[in-house]
Amino acid sequence: MSFTPKQQSFLQWLKTEFPENTFTLEQIKPYMTPATWPLFGWLKTQGYIQEAARNTYKIVNLQTTINSYQEVTTTQQPIKKEIPNEWKPFLVGEIEEYIEQDDEIEDVITLLQEGPVLITGIKGIGKSLLAANIAKKLNIPRFILSCSKATDEEDVLGRYVDLGTFVDGVVTKAVRCAQDAGRALLVLEEVNAMQAGVSFVLHNLLDFNKMLVIPSTGEVLKVNGNGKLFIIATANMGYFGTLPMNQAFRSRFNEIHLSFPSEATQRRILRQHIEDGEVVESIIKAGEALRKAAENHDLPDFPSIREEVMCTKLFRAFSNKGLSPGKALSKAFTFTMAKFAEDNVQRETVKNLIRSASSIPVEFK
Ligand SMILES: Nc1ncnc2c1ncn2[C@@H]1O[C@H](COP(=O)(O)OP(=O)(O)O)[C@@H](O)[C@H]1O
Ligand SMILES: [Mg+2]
Repeated sequence: MSFTPKQQSFLQWLKTEFPENTFTLEQIKPYMTPATWPLFGWLKTQGYIQEAARNTYKIVNLQTTINSYQEVTTTQQPIKKEIPNEWKPFLVGEIEEYIEQDDEIEDVITLLQEGPVLITGIKGIGKSLLAANIAKKLNIPRFILSCSKATDEEDVLGRYVDLGTFVDGVVTKAVRCAQDAGRALLVLEEVNAMQAGVSFVLHNLLDFNKMLVIPSTGEVLKVNGNGKLFIIATANMGYFGTLPMNQAFRSRFNEIHLSFPSEATQRRILRQHIEDGEVVESIIKAGEALRKAAENHDLPDFPSIREEVMCTKLFRAFSNKGLSPGKALSKAFTFTMAKFAEDNVQRETVKNLIRSASSIPVEFK
């Protein structure tokens, strides 16, 4: 029977750790075959060793023992200057510029040095775009886990696709990149939608020890001292219809809340896409009017910055097709903001609000 280097080093370490009167290699061998380690995984193997320990009539606190073993196997790799080719596809390409309201980019970068960061705010307010801009600015590979109720441990850690082939999950990939390239950004999108049982596997990674345990392979990954794994989570919560977040999970993050950008900031955001100041003003005013109506419960939902930007882009697209500003804007409003109505009464409300907010005359069919 032969052992893998990993198993050998573990056994060797057990021997030095328990020099007198403890399990010998021979005693553990039956429980530590090359077949059982990968097959049964780390947790089962722990069980086997525990049994072996009992056979020697010595009570061993195995968890502590194994934890300190993990400490000693942590490697200290120097950070590579160049990002290895394997990770280059994860670099963020051309994206929209995130326009700051209040130094968000530098604030989040500062927070990231200290630990995981949670970005909260309503839908379409730029949480994901902010995270992407940070990855781009720091030139670090970015890994996105889009969370939902259906997200399971295998999405996070990885799964066996066929006999013996383990495919890394998103989080595992991010950790390996941090180990290999020395840097990575993990983005947990809409993290409040993730079930508490699943988020639990991330606790160790979010804590200071930055460790990821993959029970099905028996691997324990640790981000080494030089490598940096930044973690950003985004969540849309605290509003009607949104999910609350597990407190034990939430407490592991420093939190930054994005509030709705001022008119001046909105102007700068929309001006990225079109020049026409009057159109930009009309879109901002229409958005504002619809948000007020939603606040008063006259409408079921409201446009966010995302819809304002979409409206701006559609205006540009229809203008480029030769439509007059009035016609192009009418179409842009129709396709981005008319959706915030559920019945004919609300549809009329939306149309009227947009008509009176827009300084450019708009017509709706
Ligand atoms: N501060 C901002 N600067 C530039 N664009 C923004 C900003 N906030 C929102 N947007 C626009 O809204 C869109 C949606 O943003 P996103 O980051 O996906 O929102 P969230 O993740 O909060 O739901 C972006 O693609 C962008 O067009
Ligand atoms: Mg998002």
